[in-house]
Amino acid sequence: MRSLHTPLCDLLGIRYPILNAGIGPAAGPELAAAVTNAGGFGVLGGGGMPHEAMRKLVARTRALTEGPFGINAIVDDPAVPEDLEHLEGIAAMGPTAIVLFWGDPTPYIPIAHGHGVKVLVQVGSVGEAKRAAKAGADAVFAQGVEAGGHVRGTTPIWELLPDTVRARAEDTVLNDLYDGDWPNAPHRTLRNKTLAEWEAAGSPPHGSRPGEGTSIGRRTNSMGERVDWIRYSIGTAPPDFDGDIEYAPLWAGESCSDVNDIKPAERIVSDLVREAEAELAG
Ligand SMILES: Cc1cc2nc3c(=O)[nH]c(=O)nc-3n(C[C@H](O)[C@H](O)[C@H](O)COP(=O)(O)O)c2cc1C
Repeated sequence: MRSLHTPLCDLLGIRYPILNAGIGPAAGPELAAAVTNAGGFGVLGGGGMPHEAMRKLVARTRALTEGPFGINAIVDDPAVPEDLEHLEGIAAMGPTAIVLFWGDPTPYIPIAHGHGVKVLVQVGSVGEAKRAAKAGADAVFAQGVEAGGHVRGTTPIWELLPDTVRARAEDTVLNDLYDGDWPNAPHRTLRNKTLAEWEAAGSPPHGSRPGEGTSIGRRTNSMGERVDWIRYSIGTAPPDFDGDIEYAPLWAGESCSDVNDIKPAERIVSDLVREAEAELAG
């Protein structure tokens, strides 16, 4: 049996990665609190609702549950003229997350984050998922064309969902940027600050790259000595690395898209064995 515990559980502080849709006034405090109390993430419908009314719903929800819950907001809602201001007001009510739907979420995300509120975005395409991720959304979830209500999706969920998950594979890139200590050996690494700064500088050749020759931090070498880690040098960051990990070559394959949990090694082995045996038996 696969574990139902996913990164979303840690992000939102919930037991199960299950949310109710913030279906306008139909998703009130009773529904949201019931979902939260059952271990999921309750979401209050909030599309176009004035702040005063929303505050009452939030207070009622807090009376019904001590757990985390979210508030839904429709981006670019013509019923709410001051959209950004509206979102600011909702964020100030202190939900765990704001759940956005429809237009471009980009301007709203920093406002919510400024209040310490997470942002989940419902998307209708892989392109929208990438845009939301780039804008700093904490999580996206996909709506297929078969969904009820306002439909942003154009693709059946069974195609869109795997495509959306796979889009994370693009976080890795095959490159030969890390040529210190081991030149001419291509690597696949996660995109990080070293790569971003090099690309922003126009991808200059060896010898004229940003920060070349400077230290990204200190690590213990195989001789047990503390040494500087020079930018563009290869290596795997040891637990005692003292520096900015975002500059280190973070080796990772496209299979990182399939990593949905961080578990102890023993658990990984036993889960793999159990799942493989179940698959073979079935
Ligand atoms: C009655 C109804 C009202 C909805 N209202 C909203 C809403 O206010 N905000 C929102 O983000 N999504 C809304 N949705 C869309 C849902 O978020 C979700 O995409 C949809 O319910 C998924 O389809 P399904 O219910 O058939 O599984 C609504 C859906 C329905 C059926």
